[in-house]
Amino acid sequence: AVSAEPMTGFDATLRDRMAGIESALLAAVESDNPVLNEASRHIIQAGGKRFRPLLVVLGSQFGKPYDSGSEIERRVAVGAVVVELTHVASLYHDDVMDDATVRRGSPSANARWGNLLAILVGDYLFARATDLVTDLGLDIVRTYSAMFNRLVRGQIAETVGPAEGVDPREHYLQVLADKTAALISTSARVGAMIGGADPATQDLLADFGEQYGVVFQLSDDIIDITSDETGKTPGTDLREGVDTLPILLARRSTDPADARLLELLAGERTDPEVDEALGLLRKHPAIEQARADVAARAEATRRILDPLPDGPAKQALADLCDSVVTRTT
Ligand code: FPP
Ligand code: MG
Ligand code: MG
Repeated sequence: AVSAEPMTGFDATLRDRMAGIESALLAAVESDNPVLNEASRHIIQAGGKRFRPLLVVLGSQFGKPYDSGSEIERRVAVGAVVVELTHVASLYHDDVMDDATVRRGSPSANARWGNLLAILVGDYLFARATDLVTDLGLDIVRTYSAMFNRLVRGQIAETVGPAEGVDPREHYLQVLADKTAALISTSARVGAMIGGADPATQDLLADFGEQYGVVFQLSDDIIDITSDETGKTPGTDLREGVDTLPILLARRSTDPADARLLELLAGERTDPEVDEALGLLRKHPAIEQARADVAARAEATRRILDPLPDGPAKQALADLCDSVVTRTT
């Protein structure tokens, strides 16, 4: 299981609130159907960083002062559960589409129960999320459904690939924005909305989440190539033909020494060819170039926070920008 790294350095109140959200998450998927019960807890219990719920909590801290036991605190927990359930639902579907066999160091739901059940359990988690979000009022329901639209469109765009004449890098960045950043941005915005932050602060936090989401997925795509310790199978994007930033950068190479790599990146790849391409990419300057892009974007994302009042919530958001650069899993 992947540990909840952002939990380190939290104060006791934040730790307690995140622990409460963890219990609420499991309670939200409880079902009298034994298959649904087991299969829907499976990926939640396999671990996860819970940074989308964390963004809801942190976003709420730029509104009214924290008051334990308040209606706001209850709504923040609901919002946090909604975004994490949505994320987990998308992973059940994603692992079917990517033909993934492991997730968070455990067998993926599709590997364990087959594609049909994995898709239906994803639908169930989404159904639970939409049930809970209605409790947060029409403004948040509208924000949520617009986000969900982007999530699906991003995944479709990734699957279909860039249209004729569209720059592959522009296409890729748009996919990241829609499939990943939309939910992360919405997490921060929903927190700010529930917490009673003013509209300018809601927009600032949504912008932060949007930029952070792109950086986060960029680093995820580098790690898909470089790491053997993600709890996922390395090289999944190469195998599935998803052209991520390091692949796009490597493909621009004119170095004759890259002839074999370019050949491997050009067509469909067998499993041994995926391994060969992975080995070549790991030593390729494209990785360092992609890492430099992540570092520059993380710094620009951190600067979005500048106008916010200093305090633990702003610090925790800034820390996320540091850890996205240094993360290796
Ligand atoms: C992970 O990308 C996938 C996403 C961030 C979004 C997937 C969206 C959908 C499947 C549509 C949503 C459907 C429902 C019902 C919620 P990745 O494959 O690059 O990440 P990974 O490395 O973690 O597998
Ligand atoms: Mg995947
Ligand atoms: Mg995918």
